[in-house]
Amino acid sequence: MIYLDNAATTFPKPDCVYRAVSECLRCFGANPGRAGHRLSAKAAERVYETREEIAAFFGGSPERTAFTLNCTHAINFALKGVLQKGDHVIISSLEHNAVLRPLEAMKEAGVITFDVARVVPQNEKATLENVRALLRPETRLLFVTHVSNVFGTVLPVEQLASFARSRGLLFGLDAAQSAGVFDISMEKLPVDLLCLPGHKGLFGPMGTGALLLSDRVSPRPLIEGGTGSFSLQHRQPDVLPDALESGTLNLPGICGLGAGLSFVRRVGTKAILQHETQLMRLLREDLSVIPGVERFGEAPETLLSFRIAGQPAEQTGSLLDRMGVAVRAGYHCAALAHTSFETTDTGTVRVSPSLFNTKNQIKNLSFSVNQIAMGKVL
Ligand code: ALA
Repeated sequence: MIYLDNAATTFPKPDCVYRAVSECLRCFGANPGRAGHRLSAKAAERVYETREEIAAFFGGSPERTAFTLNCTHAINFALKGVLQKGDHVIISSLEHNAVLRPLEAMKEAGVITFDVARVVPQNEKATLENVRALLRPETRLLFVTHVSNVFGTVLPVEQLASFARSRGLLFGLDAAQSAGVFDISMEKLPVDLLCLPGHKGLFGPMGTGALLLSDRVSPRPLIEGGTGSFSLQHRQPDVLPDALESGTLNLPGICGLGAGLSFVRRVGTKAILQHETQLMRLLREDLSVIPGVERFGEAPETLLSFRIAGQPAEQTGSLLDRMGVAVRAGYHCAALAHTSFETTDTGTVRVSPSLFNTKNQIKNLSFSVNQIAMGKVL
C-alpha cells in the first residue's frame, strides 16, 4: 500500500520511534512523577526531557509546554481555557473544525462572538486587510491555522502575528500541518498559544500533542485531578504545566514523540519541506495533463487536493484504495475551507506525503488517477 495520508497522521514512523515506545513499555513503564521509586523517576525524567526538547525546538519555555492528547485537545485548551464572556475572536476562512466547533459551541452558549476573515491565497496584504476589517474593541484573540489541512495554503503567519501583537491581541496558531515541516519560533513570530499534534510532522504516536504558551497567557484547566504535585491541596494547582496535565500522561507516546522530534532535528525541517514540495510539484504537473482533473491550491508545498469531474471525491478515494493508494477523500473536517474553495458538493481527494514517500509512488498515484479519469477502473 502506498500511504499518502500523512496530513491525518504520519505513517510509517522512523525506526527510532518504534524503539523508544517499546523501550519505554518494556523497561520503565511506571507512572511518571507519581511515586518516589526509580522507575517512576526515570519515567518523569523522560517526560521532562521531551518537554524541554519540544520547548527548545519551538522557541518556548518547558514550564509553559503542556502535553495534550492531540492538536484538537490543545486547541480546546487554548480557546475554552482562555476566552471569557464578551470576548471576540477572529479566525481565518481555512480553519479546521477543531477551531470552528469549540468557538461555535462557545458562541451558542452566549460566551463569545467570532468572525471569519477570508484568506486570499498568495496575497498577504489582502488577507491582513480582511483581518483588520473585523477588528472590534472587544477582540481578544486572533487564531489561525498555519497551513490549510485541505488545500495546503500557507497563511502569512508572520504578518498576522505581528499585527495581533501590535493591537494587543493574543495570537494563537494551529500548527497541525506545519509542526516538524516549517520552522516555527514562538518568540520570533510571536505566538501566544501554539497548538501541536505529536503524531503528524513530529512523527510521534497518536495520542500525543502539546500546547505551548507565551508568558502573556495562562489557560484555565478544562479538567481537574491528580497532577503528581501539591497532593494534599483540594484545589487544582495553578502551576504550569501541572495545571493542564491532570491524570496519567501518555508516557509511551511522549517517549515516541521525543524520538520523532530527534529524528526531525537530525534530518532538518528544510530538507523535509523540500522533499514534500518536490513530490507535490511533480504530482501537480502530472495531474495537469489528465483530462477532467481539477486541482486546488496555487502552489502546494506539503499537500494537494484534487477531484475528478463528475465523480464524488469519496468514490475516487475508494477506487484508489482498491488500486493500493491510501489518500483521504471527501470532506476533511474543515467546513469553512470547503466553503472557501467551493468544494462542499463533491469534497476533494487529498494527497499528503511525508519524508518517506518517493517520486515513484507519486508516479504510481498519477497513473492510477489517470486510469480512473479515463473510466478504465470502475
Ligand atoms: N486533521 C486531520 C486531517 O486533516 C485528521 O486529516
